Amino acid sequence: MDCTFHLEDFTILTDEQRNLLDDVVKNLPIIADLSQADIFIDCLLEDQQAAIVVAEANPRTTQSLYKTSVVGQIAYEDTEPGVLFSLKTGKPVVGSRGISQENVVMQQDIVPIKDRFNQTIAVLIKERDISQEIQTEQKVKTLMNSKNNREKEHLMQSAIIQEIHHRVKNNLQIISSILRLQMRRCSSGEAVEVFRDSIARLSSMAVVHDYLAQHGIENVDAKFVMEQISALLISLSKTPESRLNLSVQGEPLFLPSEIATSVFLIVNELVQNCIKHAFSDHQTGMIEITVHSRKQMAYITVSDNGQGITGMHSKDKSSSLGLQLVELLVEEKLQGDLSFFHSNRGTKVSLTFPIPDKVIS
Ligand SMILES: Nc1ncnc2c1ncn2[C@@H]1O[C@H](COP(=O)(O)OP(=O)(O)OP(=O)(O)O)[C@@H](O)[C@H]1O
Ligand SMILES: [Mg+2]
Repeated sequence: MDCTFHLEDFTILTDEQRNLLDDVVKNLPIIADLSQADIFIDCLLEDQQAAIVVAEANPRTTQSLYKTSVVGQIAYEDTEPGVLFSLKTGKPVVGSRGISQENVVMQQDIVPIKDRFNQTIAVLIKERDISQEIQTEQKVKTLMNSKNNREKEHLMQSAIIQEIHHRVKNNLQIISSILRLQMRRCSSGEAVEVFRDSIARLSSMAVVHDYLAQHGIENVDAKFVMEQISALLISLSKTPESRLNLSVQGEPLFLPSEIATSVFLIVNELVQNCIKHAFSDHQTGMIEITVHSRKQMAYITVSDNGQGITGMHSKDKSSSLGLQLVELLVEEKLQGDLSFFHSNRGTKVSLTFPIPDKVIS
C-alpha cells in the first residue's frame, strides 16, 4: 500500500487544507479494504485542465486494478471526466466510466473533499473493475441484433440471470471481507472459530455464484466446482495447506443449478468437518472426494484418513449445525440417501441421489 503526498509542486493549498487532506489519507487503507476497491485522492492542477493523483490505497480484500503506483500521474478530462467535473463543480459523481492510467476500463465513484469554507480542495475516488459488466453489455447488444425472437428472449433471460449471480457473488464477497476484518479484531478463540466457519460457508457460496455467473445455470459441472470449493476451504482453514492432501477423483458430473447448489452446501460441510475434526494438530491428513454417476443416480463420497467420529454426533444436536443441515438437504432437496462409515482409520460419508432426466450426460 502506498500513500504519498506530492502536492507542493502542483497546487496552491494552505497548510490547513493540507492537514485536512492528510487526515483523509490516513484512512485510505481501511476505506480500500472495506469497499474492495482502489481508492485515490486527486487534486486539480493550477491551470485547471487536468488533475494529479496525490494519494492511493490498494485493497487487501480483493485484487487491485493496478500493477504499479500511479501517485504523481495526471488524470485528463478525456479519460476521467467524472474526476474533473467533481473537482470543478464540487458535486459528487456516482458510476462514471473512465480509463485508468494502465488503460483498463473502470467505474469511478467520486466525492469532493471540502475545506471549512466549502471550497473543493480535492476528490476522493473509488475505482472498480467493470470488465464483466462490459462483457454482459456486449452479449446483450449482440442478441438485440439477432432476428430470432425466441432465441432473443432466451438469451436475454440467461444474461439477466448470470448478471444476478454476479451481483450475489459480489455481495457475498463483501460480507465475507467485513467478517474477516471483524475476525481480526476478535480476541476470543471461540468467536474466531465461528467467524472462520461463517466466512468459509459464504466463500463457498460465492464460488458457486461465480461459476453460475460465468457458465449459466443449466448444466453445472459439479466435480469442477467441488474441486474449487475444497481447495478454497483448505486455504481458508488454519491448518497449513502442506498438511492436508486433497484429491477429487471420478468423472465429470453435470447437474442443474438447483440440485448442484444443495450438493455443494453438503460437500462444503463434509469437507469442513474433515478439516476441523479428523486430524489432530500435528497430523498430516488425506481428504478424498469421489464422484460417479450410473444410469440416473449420482454417487459422491467424502472421506478422510483421520481419527473417525468419536461419540455419536446426533446425540448433541444443540451445539452443531453442520450434519443436521446435511441430513436436511439430502432428504428435502435431493430425495437422496446418506451413510456414514467410521473407524479409527477415518471417516467416509456416502451420498446417493437421483439425477433429473434432462441433464444426464
Ligand atoms: N470427518 C470427521 N472426523 C472426525 N469427527 C467428525 C467428522 N465429521 C464430524 N465429526 C464429529 O461430528 C460432530 C458433529 O459434526 P457437525 O458438522 O454436525 O458439527 P460441528 O462441525 O462440530 O459444528 P458446525 O458444523 O455446526 O460448525 C463434530 O463435532 C465432530 O465431533
Ligand atoms: Mg461441521
